[in-house]
Amino acid sequence: MFGPLNRRSVLTGIAGAAALGFVPTRFAIGQQAKIKVGLLLSHGGAYAGPGIGVTNGIKLALAERGGKIAGREVEFVMVDDESNPAKGPENTHRLVTGEKVDFLVGPVHSGVAMGMVKVARETEVLTIIPNAGFNAATGPLCAKNIFRTSFSNWQANAPMGKVAIDRGYKNVVTITWKYAAGEEMINAFVDRFTDLGGKVVKQMALPFPDTEFQAHLTEIASLKPDAVYAFFAGSGGSKFIKDYAAVGLKSIPLLGPGFLTDGVLPDYAEAAEGILTTLHYADALDNPENHKFRAAYKAAYGKEADFYAVQGYDAGQLMAVGLDAAKGDAAAKAAIIAAMEKAEIKSPRGTFTLSKSHNPIQDVYLRQVKGGKEVVLGVAQKAVNDPGTGCKIA
Ligand code: PHB
Repeated sequence: MFGPLNRRSVLTGIAGAAALGFVPTRFAIGQQAKIKVGLLLSHGGAYAGPGIGVTNGIKLALAERGGKIAGREVEFVMVDDESNPAKGPENTHRLVTGEKVDFLVGPVHSGVAMGMVKVARETEVLTIIPNAGFNAATGPLCAKNIFRTSFSNWQANAPMGKVAIDRGYKNVVTITWKYAAGEEMINAFVDRFTDLGGKVVKQMALPFPDTEFQAHLTEIASLKPDAVYAFFAGSGGSKFIKDYAAVGLKSIPLLGPGFLTDGVLPDYAEAAEGILTTLHYADALDNPENHKFRAAYKAAYGKEADFYAVQGYDAGQLMAVGLDAAKGDAAAKAAIIAAMEKAEIKSPRGTFTLSKSHNPIQDVYLRQVKGGKEVVLGVAQKAVNDPGTGCKIA
């Protein structure tokens, strides 16, 4: 399923050729070794697409640096997390204690992140989360060595609570997968929406990664809410959008975080028409970094980039900031962390910095599918900063 990405892959470059003419000091020997990056991502199922996006994005960031960071080649080691939370710790250990990676990058799935973060805290391996929004990773379970280049589940969803009220929706049904991300995303929306006077008629949940939506959609039709708020992602998101339209529910506005619609265009353009979402990225953002990134991604992979790719790309950028500051010495963790904490990442999403708990402080955009395109309606909330409640490094 993952094609050529399923094997260990090594970016191009000639290791330490220049150093060969010298009597190697300890540091020079270290300099010749490759930086080992462990990618813990989903290789199959609903989150296979997101896993590929992250992988392509991080590889693009390194390719732009000639395949090297601070003069050192980079080697990727890939482990399939199977989107299985129960195997999170074991799969993380395969990379950290087994492969002894210098950097751990992953996962897509919040349930897997729970186990991964536990191991990252214990082993103090330098870690960058390029997707999973699991709130606690930059909250009570935050750590000096754990960073995130994506979002917290709260951050991507709370802004829509106000948008829904502003649009006059009073009664809403929510629907999601029953796992950490689904629950946290729905809660973030519901808290803001009900604080501002909205009412939740019913909350629905299916086990992850079920896509048997029919019974729920029939019930939504009979409840006749003003709007529906949904989180599904990857191939599950596309299936939900298709089924929602197919049962004739399009007269009830569909809202959600942008995870819902990413990847549905152009194939399900008609079914997705009108869906309103909030996200920290949109394909159509008009800034030089985004234009350059999207063109380079298309040239490298022959397809359009998505936000998973942006998050992977920014994980590569953040890693480079840290390693450059430490002159390529991956063991100099304090120097790497200090530089990463201060980083200003020029992202395709717009420039972002990191909060004290290591989560991006970023604008959340309001987007709508119109005429088969994801249109940016504006900024739903500026510089959204997850409070990182419970984080002790802050
Ligand atoms: C998550 O599990 O945190 C998750 C997965 C897919 C997304 C967003 C969040 O698109």
